[in-house]
Amino acid sequence: MQYNEKLNFLLVALLILVVPAIQAQKPVVHELSTSDKVKIETLLSTMTPDEKAGQLSLFLSGWDTTGPVLRADYLNLIKEGKAGAIFNAYTVDYVRKLQRMAVEESRLKIPLMFGYDVIHGHRTIFPIPIAQACSWDLTAIEKSERIAAVEATAEGLNWTFAPMVDISRDPRWGRVSEGAGEDTWLGCKIAAARVRGFQGDDLRANNTLMACAKHFAAYGAPQAGRDYNTVDMSMISLYEWYLPPYKACVDAGAGSVMASFNEIAGIPSTANKWLMTDLLRKEWGFDGFVVTDYASINELVNHGIAEDFKDAAWQALDAGVDMDMQGSTYLNHMPELLNEKKITPATIDHAVRLILEAKAKLGLFEDPYRYCNKSREKKEVMTADQLDFARHFVSQSCVLLKNPGQILPIPAKVKTIAIIGPLGDSRKEMLGSWSAAGSWEKCVSLFDGVKKMAGDKMEVILEKGCNINDYDKSGFDAAVRLAAKADYVILALGESCGMSGEAACRTSIGVPGVQNDLAEAIVKTGKPVAVVLFNGRPLALTKLASMPVAILETWFGGTEAGDGIADVLSGKVNPAGKLTMTFPRNEGQIPLFYNGKNTGRPLDPADTADEYVSRYLDCSNDPLFPFGYGLSYTRFSYSGLVTKVDDHNISIAVQVANTGDRDGEEVVQLYVRDKVGTVTRPVKELKGFQKVLIKKGETQAVSFNLPFDDLAFYHPDLKKYWDPGEFVVYVGTSSAETLSGSITVK
Ligand code: NOJ
Repeated sequence: MQYNEKLNFLLVALLILVVPAIQAQKPVVHELSTSDKVKIETLLSTMTPDEKAGQLSLFLSGWDTTGPVLRADYLNLIKEGKAGAIFNAYTVDYVRKLQRMAVEESRLKIPLMFGYDVIHGHRTIFPIPIAQACSWDLTAIEKSERIAAVEATAEGLNWTFAPMVDISRDPRWGRVSEGAGEDTWLGCKIAAARVRGFQGDDLRANNTLMACAKHFAAYGAPQAGRDYNTVDMSMISLYEWYLPPYKACVDAGAGSVMASFNEIAGIPSTANKWLMTDLLRKEWGFDGFVVTDYASINELVNHGIAEDFKDAAWQALDAGVDMDMQGSTYLNHMPELLNEKKITPATIDHAVRLILEAKAKLGLFEDPYRYCNKSREKKEVMTADQLDFARHFVSQSCVLLKNPGQILPIPAKVKTIAIIGPLGDSRKEMLGSWSAAGSWEKCVSLFDGVKKMAGDKMEVILEKGCNINDYDKSGFDAAVRLAAKADYVILALGESCGMSGEAACRTSIGVPGVQNDLAEAIVKTGKPVAVVLFNGRPLALTKLASMPVAILETWFGGTEAGDGIADVLSGKVNPAGKLTMTFPRNEGQIPLFYNGKNTGRPLDPADTADEYVSRYLDCSNDPLFPFGYGLSYTRFSYSGLVTKVDDHNISIAVQVANTGDRDGEEVVQLYVRDKVGTVTRPVKELKGFQKVLIKKGETQAVSFNLPFDDLAFYHPDLKKYWDPGEFVVYVGTSSAETLSGSITVK
């Protein structure tokens, strides 16, 4: 250490020891040791403006056929101390190589963070997030992120760009596949479970990943469901429906937040000081760092809010955005902005401190190679236990949409099963969007899974019939001939995995291509037909659902898709998934969601003669399949709803009977309607659920306790509290099928 550095070190140590931490009590994961604090302040006092701008810069690694590669200029930036983090670089050897450049070749030896889109698994790929949400199983969701974190950290990573917690009511938007669906209350629970899963209770452990709540804010509400498009909504809607899941991540201790691409009311998030500083930090107490989305500072020029990249860099930094993903705007312009006194050293230091703190929270100063452990890389990835859990999770994520005449499960007497359809033997499509380091070659296709399930008891034959998304019907005849040979048909239909996800929006969300026609042709053979659907968004299934077929929604199940689905088809697992996003009848109904408002002229289904009500001339107001909906191989009947109000709580009890002939799980859902509010309230709002296993023939009492505070909502002054008065409580099997009772809360 030079003399100056020593002096700095002592001064800083003194300051830190003498000045007590003003920070509020935070979860363990956020506590920094005194030596970390000293280290950070010492570094700050030693860094050049270029090195500071470097810490605020995140660069992309690419892959070519022989493995991961970083552009030569990025390699130089690492050596020059001008890169704070790298994304899309993993495997122990590669991460170690890059980290070594940072901690051995750069002047200040500051370790890099390594980020990646670990969205639904790293090597073992789990069902896509919307599918996971349909399991209504918070423990399983948390566990899947725990496994993802174990695998990702075993390959050098320490930061994930997840969870995506954007609420969306528009299935045209391709990124609904990455979220939890349309409901804010459920979205918050899932958001917190994901953060807990990634981060565990100690970010310094070598198998926990720093989470990044995204895309802050309201990225899920682009106009017309088109990705990156403008978002514009009332402040009450923003507070009530869109912001809470990000807040849930912050409360769960998420270490970072990603700014969204979109604008809200004319200000792009990346330049939105109110959002990034006033709300996120001052009101919510977030003490981590904010990263941009991919080059979103540069995009401020396209948005028409910045003159050039320099102006954009200034606006983003001033707003409270700490790290520039891939745009180089901080690196290229910050020193200049500092010279011109457009930004103060304190503003830059604040952002750099947050990045260095994140590195300290991850334990990188202690050991920069903490996540580079060859033996973990060999032993902790795609283990039998991890794959077993993935298979289980697939079966939990399936939603049975239709099952006329108990077509499913496949009867034991079936001798020949024909699997027909473009997704019948696809491994590639099973991964879904954002499949991290998942490899499609390791996926179990539907055909693989059903064949294993059938063993030597049944013959399984296969024909494609048509492609996913074109108009070629030349394969229909062969498919019909094959169906005629079988005594049971599984039709594997849906989207390709590239039809949802980022930049994958659709205006027609039916089953693509000629697949409905293929289904019609197969149904004409008179064989029992079970449709297995693969897709990344709710589809408009009106035509398919009008056919006498069973429909099992399986989304994209990941590595173990085929085995998990086969477990449901065979009846080994009784499906219990419930939709977390409404399936409309057609695109014209969008946005369609269960928690809409009553309006001044609500439609009375019993009075169809009344014309001047809120309705369509050509379509019902109701969805095809509502939020919370999903069938079982058994039946549940609800009775005996009892509600009681005491001084602070509403207690609700109901009897749920399994009246069918097999054991089954049911997601018992609690909804509330506030009859008269200071602002209009939705016709129903989810306030609780319980997933219970009920044995055949048995009845289970299910009860809920609802504190009055859970009735609170945002008022015009943007304060959250509840209004006394009458509430209707609904308990049932979906948002549309419930028992109800009325209560008064004073
Ligand atoms: C853009 C996406 O919007 C974001 O979700 C993702 O994390 C980044 N690219 C990095 O891949």
